[in-house]
Amino acid sequence: MKATLKTLGTLILWLTLFPAMSQNSIVVNADLGSVKIDRHIYGHFSEHLGRCIYGGFYVGEKNTTIPHTKGVRIDVVEALRKLKVPNLRWPGGCFADTYHWKDGIGPKEKRPTMVNTWWGGVTEDNSFGTHDFLDMCELIGAEPYLSGNVGSGTVQEFTEWLQYVNFNGVSPMSKLRIENGREKPWNVKFWGIGNEAWGCGGNMTAEYYANIYRQYTTFMTSWSNDHKIFRIASGASSSDYHWTEVLMRDIPHSMLEGVALHHYSVIDWSKKGSAKDFSEEEYFTIMKRALLMEELVTRHSTIMDKYDPEKKVALVVDEWGGWYDVEPNTNPGFLYQQNTMRDAILAGATLNIFHNHSDRVRMANLAQTINVLQAVILTNEEKMLLTPTYHVMEMYNVHQDATLLPIQLKTNDYVFGAEKLVSVSASASRDANGIIHMSLVNIDAKVNQDVVVDIRGAKVSTVTGRILTSEKIQDHNTFESPDKVKPAVFKAASLNGSLVKVKLPAHSVVVLELK
Ligand code: AHR
Repeated sequence: MKATLKTLGTLILWLTLFPAMSQNSIVVNADLGSVKIDRHIYGHFSEHLGRCIYGGFYVGEKNTTIPHTKGVRIDVVEALRKLKVPNLRWPGGCFADTYHWKDGIGPKEKRPTMVNTWWGGVTEDNSFGTHDFLDMCELIGAEPYLSGNVGSGTVQEFTEWLQYVNFNGVSPMSKLRIENGREKPWNVKFWGIGNEAWGCGGNMTAEYYANIYRQYTTFMTSWSNDHKIFRIASGASSSDYHWTEVLMRDIPHSMLEGVALHHYSVIDWSKKGSAKDFSEEEYFTIMKRALLMEELVTRHSTIMDKYDPEKKVALVVDEWGGWYDVEPNTNPGFLYQQNTMRDAILAGATLNIFHNHSDRVRMANLAQTINVLQAVILTNEEKMLLTPTYHVMEMYNVHQDATLLPIQLKTNDYVFGAEKLVSVSASASRDANGIIHMSLVNIDAKVNQDVVVDIRGAKVSTVTGRILTSEKIQDHNTFESPDKVKPAVFKAASLNGSLVKVKLPAHSVVVLELK
């Protein structure tokens, strides 16, 4: 009898909360999770491209008034520590397949220069090299992810790099490392075997690259008894499913820990549009491209399941983000773009997709960290600002290494013209202390969304939250107004029994904490 009354009570409450069938609803199964959201999904990417390294991370030790540690900006390190960056990919991107690591070690004044052919044709003086990057990762608290040169390098050059950074015993490369000032190896775990081998990494076919990959990894050893390396094959571009199929079929899985995938959200490669002055139509198109990630990871995962049903090989989305025209009067080869609320929505929705596919997507890298593409930080000489994307990644970092909770989501449509998308994106996790976090994104540019969340299998007595939103989807932070878009306390969530009622403003990102 008591149970029947309780059910009736819940039913009445549901009917009160759902006056129309078009309400958004989410069921969270708080006691059912079994998969971990790998913190490495929150990785970043730092290429020798434009002002990402030089002026972004690194200002050098001479002729600068900017506070630094061995040339690395202290403000940037502090911001990235707060973000809890789990891994950082370097030195590219396309640059990686032109990079010869020995040019970037030893006394800086003796290092040879090269021309950065992919990015603006500028002269690279190699003042930021292997030691600079790996020491910087230690400052940030991030694991390094080195992308090795396959396109224009050799197996010997690649394997000597591994030996240089990872070998604790006596060898020519460990001797050289010690001579250059580093006694202990860094024990780098993550290694990319080339980048975009189908394009700037050598214009190879999948079949040819699979053989090259086998050749390279045959001679790669961790050079350490204690640490296993994690080898990542250069992966497909967006929906190139043939590429994934061939790699999973032709590479022995004993030689493979991860297969990459690159997907950029771009309106049109020949007409990308402004990063900050855009219409709702352009916003909608970018959201459509971003939400395609759901289909891409599903389909690539299905192919991987065929060859690896136990899901041992990770899908590594090591380049993702929005790509627009460069800011006016900046070098077209430097890919410098502003970052608005649109990018915050893109990031929130994409991370939710990664969370919900955590069984296969176990690593990812947003492109790129500073001053390039969908950056989390912008710098201008001594000034630094945090972008809306930074704030989303900081709000979301509560999900790192938490247990993914299965959810069922029913959402209204975000309608634009004759097309529609989902309006609400969501994911949930339970951390080591039993706290439940939910991230919710209202993708709709104009319409507020009411969401009712039913938490099943856990007793919740408080709900708090943070929100990132702004008046317009075009809003962004500038050096004059660096805090225009920043997180605030979220007050529009209320708890009634197991039900949480949430009012999401248009174009907003919310993270709830349920205890
Ligand atoms: O992130 C910019 C470039 O995009 C990378 O260098 C390349 O891998 C991709 O095409």
